[in-house]
Amino acid sequence: MLAQLEQLKQKALWELENIKDAREVESWRVCYLGRKSELTKILRSLTILPLEERKTVGAYANELKSSLENNLDERKKTLEKVQLTTITRVAGIDITLPGRPIPIGRLHPITQTLKEIFDIFISMGFQVVEAPEVELDYYNFEGLNIPEEHPARDSMATLWVDYKAGGRPILLRTHTTAADLRIMEKLKPPIRAINAGKVYRYEASDATHSPMFHQLDGLAVDVGITMADLKGTLYEFARRFFGEDRKLRFRCDYFPFVEPGAEMAVACSVCQGSGCRLCGNSGWIEILGAGMVHPRVLERGGYDPEVYSGFAFGMGIERLPMLRYGIDDIRLFFGSDLRFLRQF
Ligand code: DAH
Repeated sequence: MLAQLEQLKQKALWELENIKDAREVESWRVCYLGRKSELTKILRSLTILPLEERKTVGAYANELKSSLENNLDERKKTLEKVQLTTITRVAGIDITLPGRPIPIGRLHPITQTLKEIFDIFISMGFQVVEAPEVELDYYNFEGLNIPEEHPARDSMATLWVDYKAGGRPILLRTHTTAADLRIMEKLKPPIRAINAGKVYRYEASDATHSPMFHQLDGLAVDVGITMADLKGTLYEFARRFFGEDRKLRFRCDYFPFVEPGAEMAVACSVCQGSGCRLCGNSGWIEILGAGMVHPRVLERGGYDPEVYSGFAFGMGIERLPMLRYGIDDIRLFFGSDLRFLRQF
């Protein structure tokens, strides 16, 4: 029986050596190692042999089995290599070269900041709405108590679009407050809405100015809304965005579309309020304008100011990451320099 096994080994190995492709490998396996193979039969019939013979034949047969299995694995690997080199030659590419890494992108720092602010206001019950960047003069100015010749127009140098819709002038919105009347026209109270995006001003760019930048505006309209609601909302926002301990300052200011108007500042992150170059020695950095929605604006939005009241606020976005990370040039955000953007 040993001789039979030896013969089997020679035959099997010789055939394996001459195999050329994967399909033949499989039939070889079935033939020599499969359930119905000669070797399997011998292994099964061991029990009928006398003890001594069983030991020697059994040991040899088992050894042969693992040797055939090892040779089979080796042969498969060699054939795979041959196949790869053939593909490489035919397709003219070297598929054995390591792959090129796929660069993984990330959100722009402005988008990251907006998402962070959205999350805070959403958790306070605000919904996020969208409004056009190309806007009618009415929504950007007139409707917000800023008629032609109003000095507030000077502070918002406007980019006009060379086209009038039904005779009405069109512009690139100079602030996201332009969404307020649209929101009032569309939604029903209680209104709690924020909108954010690009705004445009006809200005030369320098370290702190850009003809395009980002703003976020919030609006709440309901029965019985007071200045206390405005302050509570903005203080909660500032605590969550700047941290519990950051000092805040709330003062009167003027904006044509609110009455009374206010501005909020946070203690300077560099000098903690003692005064430095960043804060112009004041110790404070203004971050937003706000106020109670002007009765005329409420009226235009379709609300009786005797019944309804509301608050509004608006802030520039670039400033926030600039303060947080000590970025000293607004143009970096829009320069597409990956060395800058990859840091966020
Ligand atoms: N739109 C103003 C600006 O661009 C900022 C602002 C002030 C927005 C007061 C408001 C507000 O909603 O109530 O300077």
